[in-house]
Amino acid sequence: MKNLLLASALLFLVSCNEKASKTNSNYPAGTEPEVNIVEQGKVLFEGRGNCTACHKEDQKVIGPSIREMAQIYKTEKADMQAFLRGETPAIIDPEKYEIMKVNLEITKAMTDEERAALEAYIYSFAP
Ligand code: HEC
Repeated sequence: MKNLLLASALLFLVSCNEKASKTNSNYPAGTEPEVNIVEQGKVLFEGRGNCTACHKEDQKVIGPSIREMAQIYKTEKADMQAFLRGETPAIIDPEKYEIMKVNLEITKAMTDEERAALEAYIYSFAP
C-alpha cells in the first residue's frame, strides 16, 4: 500500500514535469523561458532554419540582428510566432520583407513547438 502511494506520487510528479516543459508555447515578455526550449530554438535557428545566414547576434547583416528583433518585438508586444506563421506583416523592416518572406515557407512548415522555440531563442537576446 505504501509503495503504491509512493508510486502514484512519483507518477504525479513526472506528469507535472512533462506539462511544465510544454507550457512555453507562448512566451510572454518578462518571463524567462526554460533553457531547454532556448537551446532547441538555437539548434533550429542555426540548423534547419538557416536563419544565421541573414541574422547575426548583434550586427545587421542582410536582416536585422537577433537582439534588435527581440527588442522591437518585446517593446511592441508583437506576436513573433504569428509572423513566423506568415499571418502578420513585418514591423521592423517592411521594405525588405520580400527577402524574409521566402524563409517563412520554412517556418510555416514547422510545428507550433518549433516556432515557440525559435521565438524563445530570439527573445533570450532581449535586454
Ligand atoms: C535570406 C536572408 C534571410 C534569412 C535566411 C532569414 N531572414 Fe529573417 N529577415 C530577413 C530580412 C531582410 C528581414 C527584414 C524584413 C522584415 O522585417 O521582414 C528579416 C526579418 C525577420 C524578422 C522580423 C520581422 C518583422 O516583423 O519585421 C524575424 C522575426 C525574422 N526575420 C526571423 C527569421 C527566422 C526565424 C529565420 C530562420 C527560419 C530567418 N528570419 C531567416 C532576411 C532573412
